[in-house]
Amino acid sequence: MPNKNQTFYITSPLYYVNDLPHIGSAYTTIACDTIARYKRLRGFDVCFLTGTDEHGQKIFKSANEKKMSPQDHCDFIASKFQELWKLLNIQDDKFSRTTDKKHYAIVQEFFNRVHKNGDIYEANYEGLYCEPCEDFKLEKDLLEGNICPVHKQKVQDYKEKNYFFALSKYQDKLVDHLNKNPDFIQPVYRRNEVLGWVKEGLKDFPISRQAVSWGIPLPIEKTQTIYVWFDALLGYISGLLNDDEEPTLENAMKKYWPSSVHVIGKDILRFHAVYWPCMLMSAEFPLPKKVFGHGFLTKDGEKMGKTTGNIIDPYELINEFGADAVRFFFLKEISFGKDGDYSKENFINRINSDLANNLGNLLNRTLNIVNKNFNGELEKTDIDILGLKDKTKQAIEEFESHMEKLELKEALDSVWSLVDATNKSFSDKAPWKMLKNDEIESAKACLYESLEILRNVTILVSSFIPETSSKLYEQLGCGKLDITNSWGYIGYGKTNTGFKVQEGKPIFPRLEKATLKK
Ligand code: MSP
Repeated sequence: MPNKNQTFYITSPLYYVNDLPHIGSAYTTIACDTIARYKRLRGFDVCFLTGTDEHGQKIFKSANEKKMSPQDHCDFIASKFQELWKLLNIQDDKFSRTTDKKHYAIVQEFFNRVHKNGDIYEANYEGLYCEPCEDFKLEKDLLEGNICPVHKQKVQDYKEKNYFFALSKYQDKLVDHLNKNPDFIQPVYRRNEVLGWVKEGLKDFPISRQAVSWGIPLPIEKTQTIYVWFDALLGYISGLLNDDEEPTLENAMKKYWPSSVHVIGKDILRFHAVYWPCMLMSAEFPLPKKVFGHGFLTKDGEKMGKTTGNIIDPYELINEFGADAVRFFFLKEISFGKDGDYSKENFINRINSDLANNLGNLLNRTLNIVNKNFNGELEKTDIDILGLKDKTKQAIEEFESHMEKLELKEALDSVWSLVDATNKSFSDKAPWKMLKNDEIESAKACLYESLEILRNVTILVSSFIPETSSKLYEQLGCGKLDITNSWGYIGYGKTNTGFKVQEGKPIFPRLEKATLKK
C-alpha cells in the first residue's frame, strides 16, 4: 500500500463542557471522522483526536449552577460527548481531556520551556473579557454598550496582575511562516482573515488568571492558574500519550506530532492560526501542517440560540433519521468551509433525492433484475454498453483530488454525478427491454456495469456513510467492507470476478414530509 507507515494526525477542537454537545460540535466531529476514515482507507497510519476543554470560569459556574463539583460535572458532560460520538459512528483514536493528570504535566512542562526562553513576563492587565468566548476583547470589536457580538452579552471589566506571553516577538516569524506555507491556513478566505490580523500587529496577552481557581496552577506562582486557551491547545499534544507512558512532551510528540490538520470552526481561528503557532515557536516545536476553519450552521436561515429556541438537537436528528443520514446531510449540503443552513425540508429533500431515489433506486432495480433473471449471478464482461467506464475513472480521480483539499461536498458531488449518469444511461438502455427482445448478452453487460459502478461508489462513500456502505457492499455480494483493504479494489473492472448478489433491501426508505414532526 503506497501510504503505509505514513502518519496522518487530525484533530477536532476540544469542546467546552459547560453544556451538552450541540450540533456545531457534532458537525466538526463528523467532518473530522470522515477525513480520518478516508485517510485510513488510503493506507495512512491515522490518529484522530477529539476531546473536551474542561477548565475556566464558565465551566466552574455551570458546575455550581448544577450543584455539582467541577470535576463531577466535567466527567458527566465528557461522557455525554463520548456517548454522542458513538451514536454518530465516530471512530476516534484518542479522547483528550484537559482535566487528565497527564495533561497537567504537559502544560506545566510546556509553560516552563516558554518561560525559560524568556517569553513570559509579569505585568498589569486592564481591559475587557468575554467569558463565553474565554477571550480578551478590544472596544472596537464590540457592539454599543460593550456587548460581545458573538454572545450578545456585556463583557467584563478586567484588571489583574498577570503573566503575559510575548506574542509580539513572533510577528515576523509568523508572517514568514504564512508566506512560505500558503496552505497553512485553509480555505483561502480564512487565510486572508489571518493575514489581516497579523497586519494589525500582534499584541502580548495574559496567560494566567488570578481570579479563576478552576484551572492548572501556574508553576511559578501557585496563586494563579493558566489561561484556559494556553491550557486547552496543549490538549492536542497531551492527548496523544498512552496511559502507561511517562507524561513528557518528548513522549507525547514522538509519533504523530506535528498534526496534519486541526479542523476548527471559524470563531476560533485566531487561537489556532496566531496564538498556537507562536506558542510552539517559542517552545521550539514544529508547527501544525494545516489549520482548516469551517463555517457556521444556521437553522431555517437564522443563527441558532437557546434563548430563541431554534436549536438543532443532534440526539433528536439521529433518533429520527439515523446517523448516516445526519452525516450525509451536513457534508453533502454545505461546502466545507462556508456557512450553511439546516431546515427539515432541506434535510428530507436531500435524503430522498440523493439516497432514497438516486442511489437507492439504481441499486434496487439492478439487483431485482439480476435476481429475477440470472439467479443473482453475473460474469465479468468488458463490454461497455452504458458507456460509463471513462466517467467512472474521472469520478474517482475528481473524488481523490477534492478529498486531498478537504472539499468534502465537492468530493460527494463527483460521486453523485456518476450515480446520476448511471441511472440515466440505465433507463435509456433499458436492460428489461433487452431481455424481452432476447438480447441477453447486452442486458447482462448493462447490469454488470451498473453493479461494477455501484461497487466503486460504495467504496468511495464508505468514509461518509459507513453503516450504509457496509449494507450496500453486502447486498452487492462483495462481503464485508474492509476499510484498510478496499481501496486496492477501486477502479472499474478492478476485481477479476463477476457478481453473486443478495436480495435487494431498501437502504434508505423515502421520508414522507407529512408524517414527520416539525
Ligand atoms: N473549547 C474551545 C476549543 C478549544 S480547542 C483547543 C471551543 N469550544 S466550543 O465547544 O465552544 O466550540 C467547539 C467548536 O464548535 C468550534 O469549532 C465552533 O466553531 C463549533 N461550533 C459552535 N457552534 C457552531 C455552529 N453553530 N456551527 C458550526 N460550528 C459551530 O471553542
